[in-house]
Amino acid sequence: MTRIVVLTGAGVSAESGVPTFRDADGLWEGHRVEDVATPEAFAHQPAVVHRFYDARRAALAGVDPNPAHRALARLEQALRDDLLVVTQNIDDLHERGGSTRVVHMHGRLRAARCVSCDARVEWHGDLGHEPPCPVCRASALRPDVVWFGEMPYDLDLIFEALDDADLFVSIGTSGAVYPAAGFVRHAAAGGARTLELNLDPSAGTHHFDEARHGAASSLVPEWVSQLLR
Ligand code: NAD
Ligand code: APR
Repeated sequence: MTRIVVLTGAGVSAESGVPTFRDADGLWEGHRVEDVATPEAFAHQPAVVHRFYDARRAALAGVDPNPAHRALARLEQALRDDLLVVTQNIDDLHERGGSTRVVHMHGRLRAARCVSCDARVEWHGDLGHEPPCPVCRASALRPDVVWFGEMPYDLDLIFEALDDADLFVSIGTSGAVYPAAGFVRHAAAGGARTLELNLDPSAGTHHFDEARHGAASSLVPEWVSQLLR
């Protein structure tokens, strides 16, 4: 059985209507990273940070998974434990598309974390009114997302899966942000074949054995059908 690790980025959700970061009209065109996606921003201007994430969390109610998410769920049904999806996305479209083995290395919009007791709770509403932590009651909640300068989640598990992988596939990510941008070289060093599926060549496209460029909603279902044929 082929063991596959799939890394996804904002591009896989673009056709669902979730904005990417670095494309034209991307989120980083309208916001400075330093103002909304760092621990320092949250310490100095929590209201601004909450507004940014509350709006993105609310927007999830109006979007649906697209054929790329659903194709990855179809692949999981066939491969079971031999497929792991590692996503940089904080939306929940992989899960709503039917995937169950998903690692959110940059956290999740629909979760909150206590700033003092570290409890993590499901959260679908706003955080801007600073609700108390439902576990310790003593403190406030922050979005359960990983900010620049913080450590991504589950790196040990991810690197172990990359070490064991026969195939690494990167979908819809610009390859601008480490450590995710380094996964292709790690997987290749461990003997995996590597494939990029992205709208344009990513920053690391030359590290892949093969790259296919186009919309994820066509490329991913085509690749999955080819694999399962
Ligand atoms: P980098 O890609 O070299 O490293 C990013 C680090 O932040 C990694 O350790 C990564 O794991 C971590 N991280 C934490 N939360 C993250 C998240 N939500 N998304 C991505 N990575 C996350 O980049 P850098 O060295 O931090 O970049 C230097 C500075 O450049 C940043 O602090 C930021 O101010 C700026 N920046 C700007 C843009 C932009 O498009 N305008 C994008 C990225 C960074
Ligand atoms: N199909 C396939 N790829 C697409 C599509 C599409 N329909 N639309 C856009 N793309 C590609 C773009 O060409 C680009 O290379 O998706 C990529 C999106 O790149 P980014 O906006 O940089 O998003 P991502 O790589 O996920 O960013 C990584 O940076 O700011 C942080 O935390 C944030 O997790 C995010 C991380």
